[in-house]
Amino acid sequence: MSPRRFGPSTTAIHGTPHRRPDWSPVAPALLQSSSFVNPVGSEEEVLYSRYGNNPVQVALARKYALLEGAEDAIFVASGMGATALALLAVLRPGDHLVSSAWIYGGTQQLFDTEFARIGIDVTYITPDQPRQWRRSVRKATRALFLETPTNPVMRVVDLGTAAQLAREFGLALLVDATFASPINFRPLEHGADVVITSATKYLNGHSDVIAGAVAGTSSLVEEVNRLMRVWGQAIDPHAAWLVDRGLRTLAVRMARHNSNGMTVAQWAAEQPGITRVHYPGLPSHPDHQLAAKVLDGFGGMVGLELKGGIRAAERTLKRLKLIVHAPSLAGTESLISEPRLTSHKGLTSDARARLGLPDGFIRLSCGLEDPEDIIADLAQALGKGGKGEE
Ligand SMILES: Cc1ncc(COP(=O)(O)O)c(C=O)c1O
Repeated sequence: MSPRRFGPSTTAIHGTPHRRPDWSPVAPALLQSSSFVNPVGSEEEVLYSRYGNNPVQVALARKYALLEGAEDAIFVASGMGATALALLAVLRPGDHLVSSAWIYGGTQQLFDTEFARIGIDVTYITPDQPRQWRRSVRKATRALFLETPTNPVMRVVDLGTAAQLAREFGLALLVDATFASPINFRPLEHGADVVITSATKYLNGHSDVIAGAVAGTSSLVEEVNRLMRVWGQAIDPHAAWLVDRGLRTLAVRMARHNSNGMTVAQWAAEQPGITRVHYPGLPSHPDHQLAAKVLDGFGGMVGLELKGGIRAAERTLKRLKLIVHAPSLAGTESLISEPRLTSHKGLTSDARARLGLPDGFIRLSCGLEDPEDIIADLAQALGKGGKGEE
């Protein structure tokens, strides 16, 4: 086999391309089996799908490792499972974690409730403040965690400071890059040790699977695998097969998500009923320059602040005909939600505003539809001439 690295589109389709045996299936076989026949007397590891060694699970993990440029990878039952197991692989009770404050609500809940319960202390910092990262490191600190691009204001975090600290103090830097996918951003190329992704989103991309993945060194993945077995977090073979099916079109889907995101964001920025657009591809975004440098695409996620607050948001959402009002993101269909009722539920209106989420903020996941249809639906829902009026 040639040692040449293949491009991301080829890798997402073939993994490492190889000559296929005559009469072998072109599409990967789905081995929907919990267990496999054992040779009598064999002392080799048994094949059992909870162990993550079903060939469907193994092939998917190899392909994802190639896409991230990682030594190894593993798929588990959800994005939350991936975050929990990756962090538990590097942290012990008594250890300290420094985390960006700009993270998914479910991850924060994991830290505030479960990690607190097992004696893992978490300090939250504002990730664009290098001094805060440095000041927060203690003797017991073992790991740094951040998410980029962030949900839902699409801040793009510079990995430089965290990566430098990780090297200096021998810490593990873990990055949740769900909103980018390895097509748009590969954290390991920027000094991260571990990548976490909710495969529920772009990797699968069809709104029909819950799954997560972790990529990093072989020893890290081995530890995640050990935890996955005992905590019962393996991905079901059918889910793994569906993620692989989604992965094969990842590169072309991301190209369309990226272009639809940009087209919709540029249109939205001109609408009188929309007071602010959060999209890293727009020069008005606070991280535009960094995003242009480190991302290969700006993604399909757009944050919109509507004139008229909650009432305007609800009125607009009720009028939509094409864009689906649902949580989650990254499907073929455009999805829209109000973070105040989903990822940021439980925070007061003031606390949300401090995070850059005023009332009237809606999060749009641009799907793969024709961009003019997404725009036409938004325009009619916003009211006459897109002015946000009744
Ligand atoms: C950035 C991010 N990380 C992790 C998760 C959790 O993923 P899952 O729902 O697959 O557990 C989500 C879910 O929305 C997310 O947005």
